[in-house]
Amino acid sequence: MTLPVPPTQKATILSTPGDPSALLYHPAHPIPQPAPGQVLVKNAVAGINYIDTYFRTGLYPGQTPTILGREAAGVVVALGPPAEQDQDQDQYHGLRVGDRVIWLANGGYAEYSAVPAGMAVRLPDGLAFADAAAAFMSGLTALALTRETYRVRAGDWVLLHAAAGGVGFLMTQVLKKAGARVIATAGGREKVEVVEGLGADCVIDYRGGEGKGWVERVMEITGGEGVDVVYDSVGKDTWEGSLEAVKRKGTVVWFGNSSGPVPPLPLNRLSPKCVKIARPTLFGYIATRQEFEGYAHALFELLTSGALKVKIHGMYSLEDVPKAHVDLESRKTMGKLLIRFD
Ligand SMILES: NC(=O)c1ccc[n+]([C@@H]2O[C@H](COP(=O)([O-])OP(=O)(O)OC[C@H]3O[C@@H](n4cnc5c(N)ncnc54)[C@H](OP(=O)(O)O)[C@@H]3O)[C@@H](O)[C@H]2O)c1
Repeated sequence: MTLPVPPTQKATILSTPGDPSALLYHPAHPIPQPAPGQVLVKNAVAGINYIDTYFRTGLYPGQTPTILGREAAGVVVALGPPAEQDQDQDQYHGLRVGDRVIWLANGGYAEYSAVPAGMAVRLPDGLAFADAAAAFMSGLTALALTRETYRVRAGDWVLLHAAAGGVGFLMTQVLKKAGARVIATAGGREKVEVVEGLGADCVIDYRGGEGKGWVERVMEITGGEGVDVVYDSVGKDTWEGSLEAVKRKGTVVWFGNSSGPVPPLPLNRLSPKCVKIARPTLFGYIATRQEFEGYAHALFELLTSGALKVKIHGMYSLEDVPKAHVDLESRKTMGKLLIRFD
């Protein structure tokens, strides 16, 4: 069975790497055919993530023209061709036409995406597309980094940068649920107040009055010891302070480049305090179907039980995707940016 699919769709295409103006709206773009093992999803809501800006600028290499966007929630409208006899019979992982799903792959800035069935998962009843898309990639990242990259334990001192952002908003809550003592940074009074509302133990405005003094402030709060772990997605502007603020035998998790990449680092910088560093990517923790479903279901449980709140900064149309990138890169946003298709 398939659901009706029109001949063309609306999509926003990255013509060539560049600034947000390189993202061009197309009102009549071809709809992809799902290949074997793929499902075609009619997207209802797609997420805009900071990683999209890395592919847009060319910081992360990729082919152009292309459709950016790594996640969306919607309805399965077609499956790829049936498996040949010798092939894995469960290549569609039990997905059926009509299922409400969320996926992590490529091509979300479009009404329809053909994505590997292995990276799509059925949504629980009652979880709205927008809430799922607001939480999926960011929430999986928060869970994987706090459960596997460094396993956060009750009582740990944790420093989290950019805590009002898409990942930060969810990670602050995940850390508090794990019993951590959270020192968060955020840029500006409004962001600080939002993160305080999530129960962070101390929130530092690292763009305001306290500014560059955030390292001293962390040391003061932790009685001169430093924190057990730093989660740093800001990169270039914070990496040195993060190394200063971590305690002896502590861990620094660098997981993003919002201000630019962490420069190459001589390993002996780690010796004086016996510091461990990690540079994880979410996709390394959800490489098997079992891992992907395990994290997805753990996140759904947190969302449907109300244990995790989502924050949506704004819903953008496909035509407004360039503006969404400008907003995200100008540090104006709190929580998640989404694309709605109507
Ligand atoms: N490794 C992984 O698997 C993985 C997965 C998901 C996300 N990430 C990373 O996690 C980070 C957060 O992603 P997100 O989509 O949720 O974005 P986001 O946190 O909503 O947006 C980025 C935030 O970074 C802060 N920032 C600090 N310096 C900045 C600068 N010079 N330019 C722009 N922003 C700056 C801003 O918050 P303030 O104003 O509060 O400073 C800004 O709001 C990104 O670095 C992303 O690459 C990594």
